[in-house]
Amino acid sequence: MRHFSWGTVYITGGSSGIGFAIAKQIIGEGGTVVLLARNEKKLIQAQRELGKKKCHIQVLDIAKTEEVAAIIQEAVGTFGAPEMLINNAGVAHPDHFFDLDLCIFEHTIRTNLLGTIAVTKATLPFMRPGGHIVNVSSMAGFIGTYGYTSYSASKFGIIGFSQALRNELKAEGISVSVLCPPDTDTPQLYEENKTKPPETFAISGNAKLMSADGVAIAFLRGIKRHTYLIIPGFSGKMIYLLNQIAPGLVRPIMDSIVRTARKKEGISRRFL
Ligand SMILES: NC(=O)c1ccc[n+]([C@@H]2O[C@H](COP(=O)([O-])OP(=O)(O)OC[C@H]3O[C@@H](n4cnc5c(N)ncnc54)[C@H](OP(=O)(O)O)[C@@H]3O)[C@@H](O)[C@H]2O)c1
Repeated sequence: MRHFSWGTVYITGGSSGIGFAIAKQIIGEGGTVVLLARNEKKLIQAQRELGKKKCHIQVLDIAKTEEVAAIIQEAVGTFGAPEMLINNAGVAHPDHFFDLDLCIFEHTIRTNLLGTIAVTKATLPFMRPGGHIVNVSSMAGFIGTYGYTSYSASKFGIIGFSQALRNELKAEGISVSVLCPPDTDTPQLYEENKTKPPETFAISGNAKLMSADGVAIAFLRGIKRHTYLIIPGFSGKMIYLLNQIAPGLVRPIMDSIVRTARKKEGISRRFL
């Protein structure tokens, strides 16, 4: 494989989990990163671990879409324009649909989908041909997942946005990719497990968690191969293929797992 030059890579949500692991790999291959997230203390800690020479930080709340353009412009003025933007920042609040307030939907869609769109809009004018935009979706972005109504809505949205954007930017010489990680051992997953319904636990079952480093390595490999849809791990790829070829098979399997879990937990119907 020819030498790959990363240049400067902006990573939203780069202070933790998958974003941090990707930043570490990119620096390891000679690139420079700009990490953007809300919590300054976490950003400073990440910069301490990655080294000030190759890692810059910028406080940004992508959900405050009206502030995004000015902050990106400031970052470009200070750190230079990016060759790659990774829209990785995201939130997830699993629970039964009926127990999720509308404000959770607003927050999740505002952060995951509108935030991604706002950062892309603000960054694109600074990108040259050869540039690359990567949007982080999820396996819950191509399979509607029990307990993830708000998250799946936002992550399906990212896939639709990315496909349409890819077609528009192709002629401009800018690539678009989507990363769909499976369950990955990060602080976000730890938080999700606090509110995940038992049915959701039953669906993810005994599936082995990927490490954030494992996702990052698969991501780098996918980018170097110019892959549009990057799905780390063998089982993730198989689930994607099965869902594409035979969605009519996947749904009854999911239904049966949910039925068994509800029986086991003694969960009865909540609606008429
Ligand atoms: N972990 C999994 O199992 C999994 C599976 C599939 C997809 N994903 C996706 O992968 C991405 C990274 O997740 P992760 O598991 O690595 O989570 P994580 O460890 O919790 O990291 C999330 C990052 O996003 C930042 N962030 C959250 N809200 C933000 C906002 N409004 N503005 C700017 N930054 C924000 C956080 O920093 P601050 O809190 O300081 O802002 C943090 O740096 C997410 O898009 C997630 O949906 C994760």
